[in-house]
Amino acid sequence: MEHLAEMAANLCGIIATRGAMDFKEQLKSSVDIASVVGEYVRLRKSGTQRYMGLCPFHTEKKPSFTVQVVHQLYKCFSCGAGGDVFKFVMEIEGISFYEAMKLLAERYGIPMPKRSLVADEDSKLREAVFQMHELAQDSFRASLKGPAGEAPRSYLVRRGMVPETAEQFGLGYSERSGRTLLRLFEQHQFTASQIEQSGLVRKREDGSFYDNFRNRLMFPIHNESGKIIGFGGRALSPDDNPKYLNSPETPIYRKSFVLYNLHRAKEAIRKEDRVILVEGYMDAIGVTAAGFRAVVASCGTSLTPEQVKAVKRHSQRIVVNFDPDAPGANAAERSINLLLEEGLQVRIMELDGDLDPDEYCKERGAAAYQERLDKAKGYFYWLADRARSKYDMHTSEGIVSVLKSLMPAVQRISDKLERMAIANDVAGYIGVDRGMVLDSFRKAVAERHEKAFERPRVEIRADERVLLNAVLGEPEISSELIRELRPIGAMDRLSSRRIFHVVFALDAAGTPLTFDEVNARLEETDRNLLAEAVLREDVEVSREEALAAVESIRRSQAQNQRVELKARIKESERGGRWEEALHLMEELQQLERTSRERR
Ligand code: GTP
Ligand code: MN
Repeated sequence: MEHLAEMAANLCGIIATRGAMDFKEQLKSSVDIASVVGEYVRLRKSGTQRYMGLCPFHTEKKPSFTVQVVHQLYKCFSCGAGGDVFKFVMEIEGISFYEAMKLLAERYGIPMPKRSLVADEDSKLREAVFQMHELAQDSFRASLKGPAGEAPRSYLVRRGMVPETAEQFGLGYSERSGRTLLRLFEQHQFTASQIEQSGLVRKREDGSFYDNFRNRLMFPIHNESGKIIGFGGRALSPDDNPKYLNSPETPIYRKSFVLYNLHRAKEAIRKEDRVILVEGYMDAIGVTAAGFRAVVASCGTSLTPEQVKAVKRHSQRIVVNFDPDAPGANAAERSINLLLEEGLQVRIMELDGDLDPDEYCKERGAAAYQERLDKAKGYFYWLADRARSKYDMHTSEGIVSVLKSLMPAVQRISDKLERMAIANDVAGYIGVDRGMVLDSFRKAVAERHEKAFERPRVEIRADERVLLNAVLGEPEISSELIRELRPIGAMDRLSSRRIFHVVFALDAAGTPLTFDEVNARLEETDRNLLAEAVLREDVEVSREEALAAVESIRRSQAQNQRVELKARIKESERGGRWEEALHLMEELQQLERTSRERR
């Protein structure tokens, strides 16, 4: 009996998977991988069917990340990351296959067949937590507008935030009762475990629950695709501690990956090819309200490599605009090193009058902020200024100390010319001999280990490349080509021979020849080879070119045979087997005749 139940369950699973697979194919053919990837990575067209950009999965300065429209695939030729549109969304969002499918279906307005899909436990939990955040958001916003919201509304007035801005950023208010969300979640029949894991509710010692946020101004935090994943809650009075209470880490909120406001700012960041980095929610909001839309906030915690990577996908030029106080400046200095490490171009924007970015925009206006922005200094000028104010530049110890304090930043500039240019500038700027600066830079760099991150390039011949592109990309001529290629023995000497064997086998079985079908049947090294042949460049192959490539393979077969025959002839002669040698020589002549005729 138990067995039967298990079998039935398995069968259901299989049917469900089938459904999912059909839907997967349908969805895949309706979304355009270039536009999906393009929402996360700044892509440049580099062929009729091909885009390039900086790889979001590793740190690089020169683009080796490709999106191939014909095969609907992405591939990084440096780190090897690659796959289809689902894999991309899974990796970049850190979500399951099911969630990636759901996200794409929602974005493209394609209804998901509910019954045919089974989510795994993790996906189900995350879906529930997302829903609770939506409910919480509606509740917070209603409270801010309702009778209980009078105090927070007047707080916003005092801080100079107009209702339209509060609306734009989805601000809300969490009521005092401590049971508002709890009741809401129970009404919607979330389980106790789901409620507990939402991060919106807390558990008392006795096991009962209460709302995490009480009597606070609520700032929703979104992920890059615009879904709410957490909240920041600001106290309304100075005696209420902490000043900001933030959501804990939950199944949908990993703090180190999130930058506040990135989902709203990313379009402007790309358009302007520059991002402003501030510290606080209020700063991001104030600066945006002043008309600078390309702004994100790190939210008080120190910047992480993941956050830097997230913003770098949209622009490599960053302006750091932290609070003018000492902690702000220290945080800025720490971020510089991290930003340089990730290969960003860093400038530092300083505000006068001891005002933070939000206050500056409100008190001095957008034009004044724009002026400060235009005057933002290259990071090393800023670092040099900071160091100069700490040490006495009239003494040689002082000069050495200043140079020393610049070294961590210098060590992170991987480009030699850039480093020399900066050394030159720094020397002029702090009034030190150029040779001395260059010297100390050189020493600093020698201490740094170069991280090599290039994969060995796989070798593939031009004719193989043409044929693989033709066979996988030009269905009208592929069967003709396969007919020609199959009998050529020289195929076995090509580095792509295993790929061709798969192609032949699929063709014999009548399976449509697509990149995916072939790729799925290959080992890792051959996958890289196939990617190298088909994805690195945009190749459109005409029938004539393809047939010429077949000829070239044939010629190389003849060439191989000639070399082989000559070797055997020599061997026979050496061994005194004259008859055999003569026989082989005839064979060689015959071979040379036919290849002349072919030409
Ligand atoms: P206002 O003080 O209201 O102007 O907000 P702000 O956004 O300018 O805050 P501030 O510059 O003081 O801090 C920057 C950011 O650090 C805030 O937006 C929060 O994300 C975070 N932060 C500040 N205070 C706290 C705190 O007490 N606890 C936590 N967890 N985060 C804080
Ligand atoms: Mn502030």
